[in-house]
Formats: sequence, C-alpha cells, structure tokens
Amino acid sequence: MVKICRSDDIPEGSLKKFTVGRTDIAVGRRNNTLFACSNWCPHKGASMHKGYYKDNNIVCYMHNYEFDVCTGRLTNMKSWKKSKTWVEQDPAWRASGDLVMYDVLDDGSWIHVLVPSSEGQG
Ligand code: FES
Repeated sequence: MVKICRSDDIPEGSLKKFTVGRTDIAVGRRNNTLFACSNWCPHKGASMHKGYYKDNNIVCYMHNYEFDVCTGRLTNMKSWKKSKTWVEQDPAWRASGDLVMYDVLDDGSWIHVLVPSSEGQG
C-alpha cells in the first residue's frame, strides 16, 4: 500500500484527488465510509473528484451519473428523455460501467491505498 496523506486530510464529506504512480485516484469520506476510486468516470472520463455526494453515492459532475461509494456500482443514471441532442439519446453513448474501486486503509494517522502495479505504480 502507498501512504497518500494524513487521516485528517480526508474529513467527513471531503473528496480529493491524488496520483499514485501514473494513476489518478479520488479519495473521500461519506457517511463515515472512507473510499478510494479511479478518478476517471466510467461513463465519459470526467474527473470524479469534481463530483459531489448524494445519499451514499458520488455523483459525477459531468452528466450526474451516481456511483455507490462502497461498491462503485452505477446506481442511478440521469434521465435523458428530455434531452434535445441526438448524442445524448443514443443508448451506446449513455452506457457506463461501474466505478473502479481501490483498497484503502486509515491507520488512525495516515491513509494508505493499494493501486495495482499494472495501473502505473512502477
Ligand atoms: S462523464 Fe461522468 S457521468 Fe458522464
């Protein structure tokens, strides 16, 4: 695991970007759950650390897709029905996977994350 910051740097309700190797990650704390995820939105690649929280989800600021902070699962997609632009009505364009999550540990003083070496620690 890699030490990324002090525990106090991630207070409740925060969401911050870090770079581990060549991988950008977002680390946050929501409802007392510490989590770490890819900073790359699985929909169209927006920066997740610019998002916000809603219930137990992190919401991507770009198109408001919602991902569970515990599992990374896509839990809510914006309704595109009122959209007037063709690209937003295309099912392939709307498709998204789940958010990639990483193991994270708060030892009481420091926060550590585990990002697979294939994703750029080397
Ligand atoms: S890029 Fe994140 S919801 Fe579209």
